[in-house]
Amino acid sequence: VGGVKITKDDVVRENDPANNVPDAIFSKLGMQLHRRENHPIGILKNAIYEYFDSNYSGKFVKFDDLSPIVSVKEPEKGANKDRIICDAIGKTDLNNKFAKLVKPYIRALLKTLVKNFDDVLVPADHVSRSNNDTYYVDAQTVLRCHTSAHQAELLKSGHSHFLVTGDVYRRDSIDSTHYPVFHQMEGVRVFCSDEWVDSGLDGTSYASMDLKKSLEGLAQKLFGDVEMRWIDTYFPFTNPSFELEIYFQEKWMEVLGCGVTEQEILERNGKIDSVAWAFGLGLERLAMVLFDIPDIRLFWSTDQRFTSQFSEGKLGIKFKPFSKYPPCYKDMSFWISDSFTENNLCEVVRGIAGDLVEEVRLIDNFTNKKGMTSHCYRIAYRSMERSLTDEEINQLQGDVREAVQSKLKVILR
Ligand code: PHE
Repeated sequence: VGGVKITKDDVVRENDPANNVPDAIFSKLGMQLHRRENHPIGILKNAIYEYFDSNYSGKFVKFDDLSPIVSVKEPEKGANKDRIICDAIGKTDLNNKFAKLVKPYIRALLKTLVKNFDDVLVPADHVSRSNNDTYYVDAQTVLRCHTSAHQAELLKSGHSHFLVTGDVYRRDSIDSTHYPVFHQMEGVRVFCSDEWVDSGLDGTSYASMDLKKSLEGLAQKLFGDVEMRWIDTYFPFTNPSFELEIYFQEKWMEVLGCGVTEQEILERNGKIDSVAWAFGLGLERLAMVLFDIPDIRLFWSTDQRFTSQFSEGKLGIKFKPFSKYPPCYKDMSFWISDSFTENNLCEVVRGIAGDLVEEVRLIDNFTNKKGMTSHCYRIAYRSMERSLTDEEINQLQGDVREAVQSKLKVILR
């Protein structure tokens, strides 16, 4: 991050009960797949940049290096900044090498305080705030769960056309299109009232129309033709709100959310007499469709047989799978407790099996006469890179069972 590799021990106080970020997630910080010219995510980012550059004559300002560690609260006026930095890195003073390294970076972070929830009007009781859905570094700090975390700060600093690309973090279930770290690109465009008065439309309709036109143009550029549909939806920060879905692997898959920005966000950040649109698109999912990448774990692969296929740094490449290794399925049944969640299960499984786990799927669920509920999950193990031995899988499954039992208060059956 900011050129410094930050490890968990550096930012997390020992035994902080609020922290739910596992080491495997920390190790993804600073990987910056979106800034690699020869990686599908970087290639896609550049293609979208090109679309906006050529349609809006370079008006969109681009950000792709904003920190993913964002505060949920602003420090109080007059707070001792050095103290906050010490607290953030769990050191008692700033007279050590690590503190010296991160100090300028954390200072910058405090100055441009970026907020994942409050700034974009996410209500206090919204599910996305829960520690089941979001990674908390500590009680005040999260790994951003969307690039919308940067909207307010950028509007406030005067920008009216911008794109923000970055890694985002969400606790979620496991399958071929979900991974706890992925990349989004946010786009925001602000219109002043004189831009729409002549159209005969009200500001909101004008912005909606322009938004759909821009995104359909983008989809056209990227895909030529592919089956798409618009769905009306809800986001706290836009109204109306829409989702774009693309037909992929025999299912409709959500690839972006967008809408007309809530007036309150504009007004709070100095945009008076304006309307705006915003979108947030998931780069992995678009890239899966564009490059024919069958599984989201592949984006993290360092196997030459994956990386070398994108060395030209251009669109138009179709990924040739090198793995036909079969998946191996293992079932696991247990009585759940009240606090059980699928996201927690998935994190434990991923903690043991890492990227060898392809899918965790609930296949059976019943409640007995005593009111105890049993879940049966089917875990698919598969490597993208090699074949797994029976021995290895049995060992993994054994370790997974043990970890699930000890960490999740469930009773194995
Ligand atoms: N932040 C939303 C998400 O991550 C996407 C979004 C961005 C929706 C901007 C509307 C406007 O799902």
